[in-house]
Amino acid sequence: MTNQEPIPVIVNGAAGKMGREVIKAVAAAEDMTLFGAIDINPEIQGQDVGEVIGCGALEVPIMNDPQPILCAASQEKQPAVMVDFTHPKSVYENVRAAIAYGVRPVVGTTGLSSTQIDELAEFADKASIGCLIIPNFSIGMILLQQAAIQASKYFDHVEIIELHHNQKADAPSGTAIKTAEMLAEMGKTYNPPKVKETETLAGSRGGLADEGIRIHSVRLPGLLAHQEVIFGAPGQIYTLRHDTSDRTCYMPGVLLAIRQVIKLKSLVYGLEKII
Ligand SMILES: NC(=O)c1ccc[n+]([C@@H]2O[C@H](COP(=O)([O-])OP(=O)(O)OC[C@H]3O[C@@H](n4cnc5c(N)ncnc54)[C@H](O)[C@@H]3O)[C@@H](O)[C@H]2O)c1
Repeated sequence: MTNQEPIPVIVNGAAGKMGREVIKAVAAAEDMTLFGAIDINPEIQGQDVGEVIGCGALEVPIMNDPQPILCAASQEKQPAVMVDFTHPKSVYENVRAAIAYGVRPVVGTTGLSSTQIDELAEFADKASIGCLIIPNFSIGMILLQQAAIQASKYFDHVEIIELHHNQKADAPSGTAIKTAEMLAEMGKTYNPPKVKETETLAGSRGGLADEGIRIHSVRLPGLLAHQEVIFGAPGQIYTLRHDTSDRTCYMPGVLLAIRQVIKLKSLVYGLEKII
């Protein structure tokens, strides 16, 4: 225990599948205080977020307008943090608004383009405000990515398959894009073609990321979040696979990111940079 004031935390997307878990995790963390809950769902406006998510009253009402909450948070003694698990369409503006108020964003929402991330990095830099964009908060996925980097030194052929529930709005997943980027940064081009390929059904070979890496997206009810990175070489296949079975797996990473972002002065992308 320290004598420090608890970190004020705002959760944007509070009533969503991820937002609910974050509310519970923040409410249970001794070094944090739940400062605000934002969600555009019109049916729950003004209701106590704890009652809405079924964990008992937390005395924090759900609001749909982030401005007054960000403004109030900017007056707090301790730097405030906004965790965003909303929608690819709104996350960019949410992050800009938070930075403008000096509130540190921890972004779990996926679907930001690399141009948008570059712009947000510039914005955070100018404001000297920490911002964390984390395409995947689970430690198992970070370990998978590190193993993939190791394997890429020995294999020239790799494809990625990501599998998610069918309510996911963006494809491919931010994690798959990040994994492909990490492999592409190894300074080699993968999958030198052995034959001239034609697709009789458009998209059959998946999306083409940098350095020849293919990403395939599966969307089905019953799935949560899963990823395979498959390396091939003559006579052998090396498969790395990560499965999530419960959204609680993301919470240690989310709490770590909240504690780290207040120490930063610029945008950092990826959990592996802060663990
Ligand atoms: N980084 C990770 O580890 C990780 C893990 C799981 C999901 N995700 C991503 O998190 C995001 C949310 O996922 P989810 O499964 O919780 O979705 P969800 O649809 O269950 O929840 C989203 C919530 O945000 C609210 N919302 C939408 N637009 C909003 C806005 N403009 N302002 C305020 N609230 C808004 C919705 O009403 C909803 O309650 C997705 O982009 C998903 O891919 C990331």
